[in-house]
Amino acid sequence: MITIRAIEETDAEAFLSLGLRLDAETTFMMLEPGERNQDVDAQRARIAGILASDDERIWVAEHDGELVGFLEVYGGMFRRNRHSAYIVIGVLQSFAGQGIGTRLFATLESWAHERRIHRLELTVMVHNGRAIRLYQKMGFIIEGTKKHSLFVDGAFVDEYSMAKLLPLPDALGIQET
Ligand SMILES: CC(C)(COP(=O)(O)OP(=O)(O)OC[C@H]1O[C@@H](n2cnc3c(N)ncnc32)[C@H](O)[C@@H]1OP(=O)(O)O)[C@@H](O)C(=O)NCCC(=O)NCCS
Repeated sequence: MITIRAIEETDAEAFLSLGLRLDAETTFMMLEPGERNQDVDAQRARIAGILASDDERIWVAEHDGELVGFLEVYGGMFRRNRHSAYIVIGVLQSFAGQGIGTRLFATLESWAHERRIHRLELTVMVHNGRAIRLYQKMGFIIEGTKKHSLFVDGAFVDEYSMAKLLPLPDALGIQET
């Protein structure tokens, strides 16, 4: 059984291991092997900071006491971008295609709704078909292409900017344009 839950400070070591495994098995994420800070105390402090903040969240997928996926969201910190949030997601290859990504996005959307987020955004390499299909299934659209935005295995790679607008909370009294 796979549980989706908010990260806790006690996950620091397991979350670090998850990151290291993802760095090793996929080139679709940001870090190359060897680039991640492996200090568990620093990881714990970072998680504590996130838990204390209103703007950032991490949810993890847990299987048999092991972390197998995560979704992190960074909300805008200023009045002009507080309604936007940027998303990063990773699920271990051996657990892909089991609906974990879909469940993490559903959890994110509940949080976004509560926090009155209007815009969710992310970037994805143009050849990451599985991720793009997940995002499109969740209602994200491609807004544009960031040409040569990354350098992966000796070649420049393009990324799509994708976003999803959530209904505006009535209480804000803002008109859609
Ligand atoms: C991309 C990723 C987050 C998807 O997570 P996941 O748990 O596998 O996603 P789900 O099982 O919920 O599948 C969601 C959708 O993806 C698509 N999908 C799933 N498996 C697929 C496959 N083997 N091939 C193509 N599309 C696939 C389907 O549209 C699926 O929806 P459906 O099952 O209702 O048809 C995950 O595979 C991953 O982390 N990959 C490596 C790192 C990465 O690419 N991160 C994102 C960087 S932007």
